[in-house]
Amino acid sequence: MGFGKAVPALEVQNDDLKALVDTNDEWIRTRTGIESRHVAVGESNADLAEQAAREALGWDAGGFAERCLEAGEIDLVVFATITPDTVVPSMAGLLRRRLGLENAIAFDVNAACTGFVYGLTVAEVLMAASAPKTPGAAGRNPVRRALVVGAERLTRLTNWADRNTCVLFGDGAGAVLLENTEDEGADCVVASDLHTDGGYGDILKMPAGGSRRPASVESVGAHDHFIHMEGKEVFKLAVNAMVGAGKNVLEEAGITPDEVKLVIPHQANSRIILAVAPRLGVPDERVFMNISRYGNTSAASIGLCLDEAFRAGRIAKGDYVLLTAFGGGLTWGGAIFQYKE
Ligand code: UT7
Repeated sequence: MGFGKAVPALEVQNDDLKALVDTNDEWIRTRTGIESRHVAVGESNADLAEQAAREALGWDAGGFAERCLEAGEIDLVVFATITPDTVVPSMAGLLRRRLGLENAIAFDVNAACTGFVYGLTVAEVLMAASAPKTPGAAGRNPVRRALVVGAERLTRLTNWADRNTCVLFGDGAGAVLLENTEDEGADCVVASDLHTDGGYGDILKMPAGGSRRPASVESVGAHDHFIHMEGKEVFKLAVNAMVGAGKNVLEEAGITPDEVKLVIPHQANSRIILAVAPRLGVPDERVFMNISRYGNTSAASIGLCLDEAFRAGRIAKGDYVLLTAFGGGLTWGGAIFQYKE
């Protein structure tokens, strides 16, 4: 097991945004819980991802790694992002090359803010599926060690003239290294529950930039290469969806809210987080929040939280951690994460 994270050097305070839009610290703080965020100026998405991954692999100080791994030991890279440096090659392929992971299968996952939960689940499923069907038999394309990375540079897709969105987003990366030495599935995803409803896709979208509407004078002029969000609508759906997914994974894992050491929700808004926790039967003191320092970092947020929660001693080996997230797509989902003894 390993955890790592990275954020860009530049920290932007709420008051700094007053120079760009009609906003103020009081509104941002009380409506979102955000006080500052990190904005990548010199760093690319791949730079952030590489730093987080190096920490999780035990190659650089800063994160936590049970042991320092060899590059050739990594079998899988799942990279969750909606802000890749390039569409082709994938970010996972880019990271594989940068780290020299010559044996790894590598691909990206686009599930917006639910990306980290999707990434952990996909890694766990591939690990379990690649285990030998009968004890002692050779597995097919065995996945014993997987690197799950969530990294975003959302501030590049942010319209800095739109106060409804520009105060919300931040950049960063989180990484987790999963190991399956017993061929029994990943050592951490006890239960998971994933959902998508494309019927709500229009309330959180980037209208242009894909193959349907590639960049043109018209699309750039209309600001359609930025994220557009109907915040109030998203908010209403988020609470119920995150609570539903949380309850489903508790049931699937066969554990009660009292047995959950920590809830790590996607960090989109402190009001969403504080509405979700009591509905899951978990008191606020067992809910992890770092949105005040990072804002909404989409697919990176749960990875950033896992790294910080583990290193702060808020979770330890054996503890059940409930992850729950919601994002564009719409996507939502939950997982019970456990760093097994
Ligand atoms: O990451 C996963 C997906 N994203 C989310 O889960 C985000 C979900 N949504 C939210 O977090 C909230 O809806 C927001 C934080 C985006 C907005 O909060 P809200 O309480 O829903 O505010 P609102 O959009 O209803 O706006 C209330 C007022 C409006 O003024 P009027 O019309 O009442 O005069 C806005 O124009 O606040 C105004 N406003 C602002 N004022 C100062 C909106 N943005 C700002 C701002 N500064 N930055």
